Amino acid sequence: SDMIDFYGERQAGIITPAQDRLHFVAFDVITKDKAALVDMLESWTAAAARMTRGQEAGTLGAVGGSPEAPPEDTGEALGLPAADLTLTIGFGPSLFDSRFGLRAKKPAALADLPKFPGDTIDPAISGGDICVQACANDPQVAVHAVRNLARIGMGVVSVRWSQLGFGRTSSTSTTQATPRNLFGFKDGTANLKAEETSLLDDHLWVRTGDGPDWMTGGSYMVTRKIRMLIEPWDRTSLLEQETIVGRDKGQGAPLSGHGEFDEPDFAVRGDGGEPVIATTAHVRLAHPTQNNGARLLRRGYNFVDGSDGLGRLDAGLFFIAYQRDPRRQFVPVQTKLARQDQLNEYIRHVSSGLFACPPGLRAADDFWGRSLF
Ligand code: HEM
Repeated sequence: SDMIDFYGERQAGIITPAQDRLHFVAFDVITKDKAALVDMLESWTAAAARMTRGQEAGTLGAVGGSPEAPPEDTGEALGLPAADLTLTIGFGPSLFDSRFGLRAKKPAALADLPKFPGDTIDPAISGGDICVQACANDPQVAVHAVRNLARIGMGVVSVRWSQLGFGRTSSTSTTQATPRNLFGFKDGTANLKAEETSLLDDHLWVRTGDGPDWMTGGSYMVTRKIRMLIEPWDRTSLLEQETIVGRDKGQGAPLSGHGEFDEPDFAVRGDGGEPVIATTAHVRLAHPTQNNGARLLRRGYNFVDGSDGLGRLDAGLFFIAYQRDPRRQFVPVQTKLARQDQLNEYIRHVSSGLFACPPGLRAADDFWGRSLF
């Protein structure tokens, strides 16, 4: 298909089969006027509904309006199809400060993430009052969508940071082949998938009674920009790489098994008596059986932001994970990884985000944030 429904029980872009391209943007609200913010969210919703259908952002379009006025669409997606564009909105903890009277509506699950051991987070590319995750199978379509939302939001929001991603690093449907991350390993094998509906009810979607009603049916999104130290990794032996991950590089099979989708067996020991999947291996430490059953729906992207001036690729994983409650899912899993994961020698977390993504919009008269404001 080429068009993903914008309206529905859930926001598109969560269990939608992960598209290949990402433009992620976080905004700060720069007005104190709540009505102006709500107006903008209405305009954003109308533009998002149009753009996800492959149409121009405004009804007059790029060239149909007054020659005296800036166009209602910036034009660079003219002639391009919808390319499976999804636009997913989230609200950050900072939106619930004193500015807009939203304190009482802040979900407890939207508590700021703690500082994890080893974190090297840059605040300038972290956080934000509102985020939009734009995913598509054409990078120009994703960039066009973010650019037009920023244009429509002028005077009300300003872009705090944004991130491009090429190449999905997760499958979110059993219909998709598992892609690879920049360390060359299959990524997304043991991910939550759209077809696992009862697991999604337990681990992905916020339930009645979990918190404020406006989030029931939604999900919490964590973002982490993770720089990957490509050159040191590329000097590491294959054996060492596979030990660090806990899976083989060719098939993606757990070191205790043969097929990609075999369940890892952490009890299996090698000839020397050592566990075949090391105690410091990423897949052991991240596995639900080691984390009180916690699971995540990962939906991240590879990024390369050029080079860093020292001859090294400025590259890594823009990690995105959705879940029912970060306090019981991302936070404990990342705490464990930050302390014990051997992968830490080759990665640095440089940005962090947390956003509450409400349920989907059911009808054309509904708009982003209506149930919140
Ligand atoms: C699994 C790579 C960061 C959570 C995996 C797998 C790879 C991988 C290759 C095995 C295939 C799969 O099941 O997807 C990486 C790399 C990272 C990174 C290169 C950083 C650059 C993280 C972070 C988290 C995380 C920050 C969460 C805090 C998981 C989970 C699994 C997994 C939950 C599935 C474990 C299982 O059930 O077997 N990762 N990962 N990963 N990763 Fe990561």
